[in-house]
Amino acid sequence: MTTPWSQRYAQRMQWMSSSVIRELLKLTDRPEVISFAGGLPAPELFPIETVERAATKVLREQGSRALQYSTTEGYRPLREFIVERMSRYGIPARAENVLITSGSQQALDMIGKILINPGDRVLTEEPTYLGALQAWRAYQADFVTVPLDDDGLCCDDRLEEALCAGPKFMYVLPNFHNPGGVTLSLERRKRIVEVGDRYGIPIIEDDPYGQLRFEGDHLPPLLVLDAERLNHRDHGNGNSNGYFRDGNVIYLSTFSKTLAPGLRLGWIVAPEPVIQRCVMAKQGMDLHTSTFDQMVAYEVVHDGFLDEHVRKIRRVYSERRDLMLEMLERHFPPEARWTRPQGGLFLWVTLPEGIDTAELLPVAVEHNVAFVPGMAFHPGGGPSSSFRLNFSSSTPEQIETGMRRLGEVVAEALEQSRAVPA
Ligand SMILES: Cc1ncc(COP(=O)(O)O)c(C=O)c1O
Repeated sequence: MTTPWSQRYAQRMQWMSSSVIRELLKLTDRPEVISFAGGLPAPELFPIETVERAATKVLREQGSRALQYSTTEGYRPLREFIVERMSRYGIPARAENVLITSGSQQALDMIGKILINPGDRVLTEEPTYLGALQAWRAYQADFVTVPLDDDGLCCDDRLEEALCAGPKFMYVLPNFHNPGGVTLSLERRKRIVEVGDRYGIPIIEDDPYGQLRFEGDHLPPLLVLDAERLNHRDHGNGNSNGYFRDGNVIYLSTFSKTLAPGLRLGWIVAPEPVIQRCVMAKQGMDLHTSTFDQMVAYEVVHDGFLDEHVRKIRRVYSERRDLMLEMLERHFPPEARWTRPQGGLFLWVTLPEGIDTAELLPVAVEHNVAFVPGMAFHPGGGPSSSFRLNFSSSTPEQIETGMRRLGEVVAEALEQSRAVPA
């Protein structure tokens, strides 16, 4: 007798069941639907010809190296490029502190693999990045959450309470939050680094969008504040760069939003012992990130191209953000609220309590427009009156039409909720 496949899977698969949201979003897969649901960069900005030239050059000049296995840590020139780029943001890394990953998503999985035992708690913002929840659920993490407001993670008693629950680490998205669109204030960055040190709880800083700031002042990454704390500690005893030994922050970023997500290239910056553990974990995952992709990416970015290209992305996305905000003002009822991101790809809309945006999505899809219901970003699930909108991947015409449609759907839902007797 053959055992059915459904009885063969490992227990961890229970935590990986396909989400309701994913099923709902399948509905959006019709060409007439204007989708603000995906987290996609604008495809018309992909530097296709530049990548084509770089790929040809790599194959002609270093083909046998590019098509061969390589080291798990990553292509050294690319790691050195990242070191140089990170130093602009004050991040004090050396190549030994940098590991190339197959996208930041792999870095999140790797962090789960090296840090989470079944039942361990992980502190996240609420809402938080869905992909992190998916990665860490597989390692049987329990989540303790702290809400977000317009200045990012709320650093009040709720944070201290969550820290007292003894999480294994905190997961923070400081810049242009996915899905919240908000940015963590400087004061709160300092506080998070301080409590991380005081409670002995490491911080995972996920920063895919930091380079996509449209306006306002750059704020120091948590890693930089942590390195300053350690320099201060070590000052006078002759030690410097304590971060490389004792740093409490693991920083993640990616080329997905500045170059192309299809290359699957991200990186981790961490103290060397942590990088060594990640290397061990990565060997079991994919041995190394594609040598060819790393070499092509290096060829594309190394001579100043990335700066010019990121300037272009920022300009286009900030125009789309402005247009989406204008459309929200024009078409949405006054009871709706939304965030005003200073960069990134997303904004977050909140409707009055009692409206479940997971129920609103099928109605929106009937009107040929889509978003991601807030429920997806809450570790505990449950109804949410919020939803996420992506402004980077739709054209201005689509934003105008789609937001008009969505405004009608929202106005109708509010009308109906008022009509229901209490
Ligand atoms: C917060 C956050 N972390 C990680 C990722 C994964 O990015 P990558 O394409 O580098 O795997 C994303 C992608 O949208 C993201 O928004």
